[in-house]
Amino acid sequence: MKVLVVGGAGYIGSHMVQMLGHQGCSVTTLDDLSSGHRDAVLCGDFVQGNFGDRAVLDAVLSRGFHAAMHLASFIQVGESVQHPDKYYRNNVTYTLGLLDAMRAQGVGNFIFSSTAATFGEPQYTPMDERHPQQPINPYGRSKLMVEQALADYDRAYGFKSVCLRYFNAAGADPEARLGERHDPETHLIPLVLQAASGRRSGISVFGRDYDTPDGTCIRDYIHIQDLCAAHWLALQSLMKGDDSQSYNLGNGHGFSVQEVIDTAEQVTGRKIPVVNAPRRDGDPARLVADSRKARDQLGWQPQYADLATIIEHAWQWESRAG
Ligand code: UFG
Repeated sequence: MKVLVVGGAGYIGSHMVQMLGHQGCSVTTLDDLSSGHRDAVLCGDFVQGNFGDRAVLDAVLSRGFHAAMHLASFIQVGESVQHPDKYYRNNVTYTLGLLDAMRAQGVGNFIFSSTAATFGEPQYTPMDERHPQQPINPYGRSKLMVEQALADYDRAYGFKSVCLRYFNAAGADPEARLGERHDPETHLIPLVLQAASGRRSGISVFGRDYDTPDGTCIRDYIHIQDLCAAHWLALQSLMKGDDSQSYNLGNGHGFSVQEVIDTAEQVTGRKIPVVNAPRRDGDPARLVADSRKARDQLGWQPQYADLATIIEHAWQWESRAG
C-alpha cells in the first residue's frame, strides 16, 4: 500500500512513518521541517515542502497513493489564542487545499489527526464520541472545522476519512530511535524528564486548586506506539471499504500532574524540583477518553497503557537526546 504522511517528520508523524514501513507500506513523507526533523524520518521517501503549496502537493500526489495521513498541524492552544490567523490558515485552509489536491488525483482515503480539544469543557467523563463538541479555543475550533468538512465531503464526494481524536500523546519508540523533540517544548512528560536529567532546573505545576483528589489536572496519557497502531487499524478499515468514522483515543485512565511527577521520580530514580505556578488558561480539570468504540470497531488494544512504561520509554529517549 502506498501512503503519504503529511507531517511525517514530527513527533507523532515520525513514529507513524516507522510503523507503516514495518508493516510493509511504501511511505512518502511530506514535511517542511518547520518543526519536524529530517533525521526522524527512518523509512521511505522524503519530500521537503509545505503542504499549503498546491504545486508541491500536486507534484507529490502525482506519484499515486492509496491513502494519506495528515499530521502537520500547529498544536499549541495558547499560541492559537494569540495568533488565530496562523491556526485557521494552516489547520483549516491548507488542510482543505490538501483535500482538493487529493480529490484531483483520486486519492480518497484520509486519516485525520484530531484532538480532545474539539470537545471543550467536559460535560461528563470519560468522554465518548457522543460528547458535544464545543471547543473553547481556536486550535480546537480549527480541528472541528475540518472534521465537519470531512463529513460533508463524504456525503457530497464519497471522500472517506477517519478522524482520530488524541487525548495526551506521550512516550517514545521503545527502542529509543525516536521521541518527542518539540521546540519550544510545552508538554508535561518531556518537561518533567528534562527536569530529571538536569536539562531544566525544575517543573512548574500549573495549578493545585482544581477539583481533583490532589488538586492538579488529570489527563489521559496514551503511548505513541498505541496511537500509531490505532492509525494503522483505521487505515485498514478504510481500505476494506468501511464507512467514515471518528474515534477518541486514550487509555481511559486519568493521571494527575502530581502523579506524573511521582511516577517520573520512581522511573528515573531522580528527585524532580517542583515549583507551584498559577493555572494555565484553558486547562480543563480532567480529560479522560472513553475509547470503547475504537476497541470494539477497530479491535484496538493498547499495549503500553501503564503510565510507568510510557514514562520509561520517554526517559530512554531523553537520556539519549540529553
Ligand atoms: N502542565 C504543568 N506544567 C507544565 C506543562 C504542563 O503543570 O510545565 C500541566 C498542564 O497544565 C496540564 C497537564 O500538565 O494540566 C498536561 O499538559 P500538556 O501541555 O502536556 O498537555 P495538554 O493536556 O495541555 O495538551 C494536550 C495536547 C494538545 C492539545 C490538548 C487538548 O498535547 O496538543 O491536549 O486538550 F491541544
